[in-house]
Amino acid sequence: MNILVCGGAGYIGSHTVYELIEQGHSVVAADNLCKGHRAAVHKDASFYEGDLRDSTFLDKVFSENKIDAVIDFAAFSLVGESCSEPLKYFDNNVYGTVRLLEAMVRAGVKKIVFSSTAATYGEPENIPILESDRTFPTNPYGESKLTVEKILKWSDAAYGIKYVALRYFNAAGAHISGEIGEDHSPESHLIPIILQTALGQREQIAMFGNDYPTPDGTCVRDYIHVTDLADAHIKAIEKLFRDETSAVYNLGNGKGFSVKEVVEEARRVTGKEIKAVIEGRRAGDPSTLIASSEKAMKELGWTPRFNTLTKIIESAWNWHKTHPTGYNDK
Ligand code: UFG
Repeated sequence: MNILVCGGAGYIGSHTVYELIEQGHSVVAADNLCKGHRAAVHKDASFYEGDLRDSTFLDKVFSENKIDAVIDFAAFSLVGESCSEPLKYFDNNVYGTVRLLEAMVRAGVKKIVFSSTAATYGEPENIPILESDRTFPTNPYGESKLTVEKILKWSDAAYGIKYVALRYFNAAGAHISGEIGEDHSPESHLIPIILQTALGQREQIAMFGNDYPTPDGTCVRDYIHVTDLADAHIKAIEKLFRDETSAVYNLGNGKGFSVKEVVEEARRVTGKEIKAVIEGRRAGDPSTLIASSEKAMKELGWTPRFNTLTKIIESAWNWHKTHPTGYNDK
């Protein structure tokens, strides 16, 4: 199949491009490179630099390529920043996807896999979280993704665009080849920050809060390997071609680890001391987020392969050790 991957130079997008190509698909990657990295895009993918909010750009991509389905990762994703600059998030994440859907309607492309998030749930009602649980985002980032999910529902009803929205929990790790990995700037995610501390690039890691209602007082998250996420996108496309019905799925390992446990495991994997200190809570952090991914496993036939914290941290460490300054292009 010929798949258009929007945001194909970003962290999860580039890993998905890699898996698609490994599995024999043709890939057109589009990215405005404001966050993504050109070097992260697999050499066998064709690449277009441009912005989803630019309809002329999108029409050019669709007219020059016969696209069978789209995967959309192109978005801003920093929860904290979304609280101080909500309009920037609605503009890029919502308006950008609306332009993309319009271009799909014009080009007659009727299948899309959308990158959604656990942040659509807000403070969870139940653990593990089911797709049918209440969605009540506590930040504009989650709200922007939930808004797109609703836009997709109505686009299905009106234009017959079938979609799968994938709600990721905490994406982590790097490609097993060590060729691509996580490089955000500024970095705000736990595992890269811990590993930058292991590399001596930071003096210490601040653990945000130790008074949460969790076994050791630090926040618990469900970490899922980026290659397993990539694999789920391909299975979601296969599902759309198989049964032509839209759906929403959680993607996680179904197992939670506290911030302290992640630091401890990183010390074991790296053999480094990794100084960690307790600081105050970070605004907007729910205490515990753990997915039920039973629906994705059953309906997509998806099984995470890198399903231990050890495998996730080992692959991330392999990337950070060999690319201490990331892609070096910003
Ligand atoms: N944390 C620290 N110190 C740090 C960084 C993070 O203690 O320096 C803690 C956070 O407080 C949180 C946990 O580590 O408890 C994980 O934090 P991340 O920033 O790595 O990830 P989040 O859980 O905040 O966010 C992730 C994605 C978001 C998505 C969200 C869904 O990055 O895009 O999950 O809830 F919206």
